Amino acid sequence: MISIAIINGPNLNLLGIREPDIYGTQNFENYLEQLRTKFSEVDIIFFQSNIEGEILNYIQQCYASKINGIILNAAAYTHTSIAIADSLSAVQIPCIEVHISNVLAREMYRKESKISEKCIGSISGLGLMGYQLAIEYLLEHLKN
Ligand code: DQA
Repeated sequence: MISIAIINGPNLNLLGIREPDIYGTQNFENYLEQLRTKFSEVDIIFFQSNIEGEILNYIQQCYASKINGIILNAAAYTHTSIAIADSLSAVQIPCIEVHISNVLAREMYRKESKISEKCIGSISGLGLMGYQLAIEYLLEHLKN
């Protein structure tokens, strides 16, 4: 079975409550159930942390447990974390960067991503649907 890890960074545990005009009203646990139903052939594992080092540890753990693909919304760490970028280079697991909001249409400091160049591609601004599209792409990618 293909295993895909979805990793959410800081403040994404507040989805549904946090700035609903930007991030929507659905909480992630609820959306995750929908994803697992839709992709019942995939082992979708989920990790969220507000702590940079825990995200690093988890990415390293993905290597140890031979996870096939990663979907990463590093949230604000996207724009700052060379350490997370380095961990993606280290583990060499295919990764797709997802942002719920359109980061290119927001503040200047959100336009830079430290992790994009370590990813196969990025999805931004398509709401929670970005995670579903990332799974679909990864499944195709992993076939080859
Ligand atoms: C985000 C965009 C980031 O700029 C922001 O810091 C987040 C969420 C998104 O999903 O749109 O926390 O990654």
